[in-house]
Amino acid sequence: MPQNVKGINHIGIAVKNIEEAKKLYCEVLGFEFVEEKRLEDRKVKTVFLNSGNTTIELLEGIGEDSPVSKFIAKKGEGIHHICFVVNNIREALKYYEEAGIPSVSKEPAPGAEGKLVSFLHPKATMGVLLEVMED
Ligand code: CO
Repeated sequence: MPQNVKGINHIGIAVKNIEEAKKLYCEVLGFEFVEEKRLEDRKVKTVFLNSGNTTIELLEGIGEDSPVSKFIAKKGEGIHHICFVVNNIREALKYYEEAGIPSVSKEPAPGAEGKLVSFLHPKATMGVLLEVMED
């Protein structure tokens, strides 16, 4: 049996210029700014926005070899990933693996919010990059 999904934690959006995107989302669209973080190890700048019932994570790559920069070069700006929450990430990943859905990385690691996350391979999930978070 799969674990029940506990909710969508956030939706990730890849952008070329995170300052411009932040202005659009906050000053024009009315999302609430929560925090911004620079994750050197993941080569990404992030801005978290609150919409009331879920979070939007804006992502700008740091350098051309950043996975987010490569995503934009290939597909353009737009929705990058959807993050859902499970109780036990290691058990969940093992179950997905057995069901033919591998993770992009071998081990879950702390994400921008400090919680353990892992990404499922989009080739196995109809083209959608899914981030699994433990909470
Ligand atoms: Co994310």
